[in-house]
Amino acid sequence: MNASEMLCDYLLHHGSAEDRKTIPSMLFPGALPAEFCSQDSLRNAIRATQQRSYATEGKYFRVFVDGKLSTPHGKTLLDTPIRSDETLEEWLFRGVGVPQFGLIINGFERWADSIARQILDIFGPLLRSWGVPQTSIELVLFAGNYGYTPFGVHLDDPYTSTIHFQLGPGAKIMSLWTPKEFHDAVGTVESSVDYERLLPTAETTTISPGDIYCLPPHYFHVGCTKEFSIGLAVCVCRHTPDLLRKRSIDITMANPDFIKFVKNGGQGQPIGLFNTDYLLSDWIRDSYKEMELLALSKGGLHDAAGRITPTITCDSAVKLDDAFEIKFRNNGDTIQLYARGNRFTVPYDLPIEELLQYMKHGRICSIVEIQALASEELQKAAIFDFLRSLETCRVLQIAN
Ligand SMILES: [Fe+2]
Repeated sequence: MNASEMLCDYLLHHGSAEDRKTIPSMLFPGALPAEFCSQDSLRNAIRATQQRSYATEGKYFRVFVDGKLSTPHGKTLLDTPIRSDETLEEWLFRGVGVPQFGLIINGFERWADSIARQILDIFGPLLRSWGVPQTSIELVLFAGNYGYTPFGVHLDDPYTSTIHFQLGPGAKIMSLWTPKEFHDAVGTVESSVDYERLLPTAETTTISPGDIYCLPPHYFHVGCTKEFSIGLAVCVCRHTPDLLRKRSIDITMANPDFIKFVKNGGQGQPIGLFNTDYLLSDWIRDSYKEMELLALSKGGLHDAAGRITPTITCDSAVKLDDAFEIKFRNNGDTIQLYARGNRFTVPYDLPIEELLQYMKHGRICSIVEIQALASEELQKAAIFDFLRSLETCRVLQIAN
């Protein structure tokens, strides 16, 4: 079996809510695909991350020194460009400038395009079986030689199984405790760094470079990397019907039109609670649809793509990224477009379906060729804006 078959098989057989508490952890030695997470793909992802300012990326991009979050070291690292001739390890030691550190990048799928595509390939059968938005996948990059994970022994979200892809060069030691073992040792706390009390009862596994390790949600755990290593944690989250329903209601409540409607006591609004053509339940159902389209446009990834500044010109040749299906729906006088978790509005008269059909399957097209699909001269500018928006969300690449 290949990595995809092994991992999907493991999750599908242990993923039901009933047996959540009895899922075993599992090590797949040497299962990492040879071409997975190359230095080139890591360098490109880091470069993309660095395009954003630290102010917006602070909660995603964290550097730990001496076991504590260090904003200055994080800022220095973000401001140190990674060179084409250096590995991620060389860049980290140069950029952080101290001998021992940890880098954690949450929501790595926002920037790591080719790695995210590989992950969607590996977990594709699982996503198709469990469905989207019922499932989402978040990527977290861990790098460094920081010893124990800075936040100590902890429990993850109860609906998340974490799959560790150990890239190396060092190994990671994972220690696990059942909730009973953990609480017996350190009492009723949520996390702990009291390793003296905890370690005697730990179940430990060495995850060597090239290994994949599955950690079910019900174990307290901590990772330890004494020698420098890079690991990618793939967090497979299942969203229960209750949670999805709650999220739909939250989206409705946060909708500016809805807030205005409530504030005005329903006066003068186009959509009314007492209008039998459009009930509150329809509004909530619409919010669910919106959430579903956003999730589907991400292909099952958790976070939306980080936006970049578009660079296409009238002379560009472009192609669509086939890993992410662009979704859209008509809203009367505009069309809502959903691209890798980003939403934008395009004019109603734009022939979206025709445009997407034309560019399908990664076909390389010139801008002029795509604009030729316009039925009138005015539409050409709208088509160019539409293509720029797709590039902003990184579902359209320049091919020349
Ligand atoms: Fe964790």
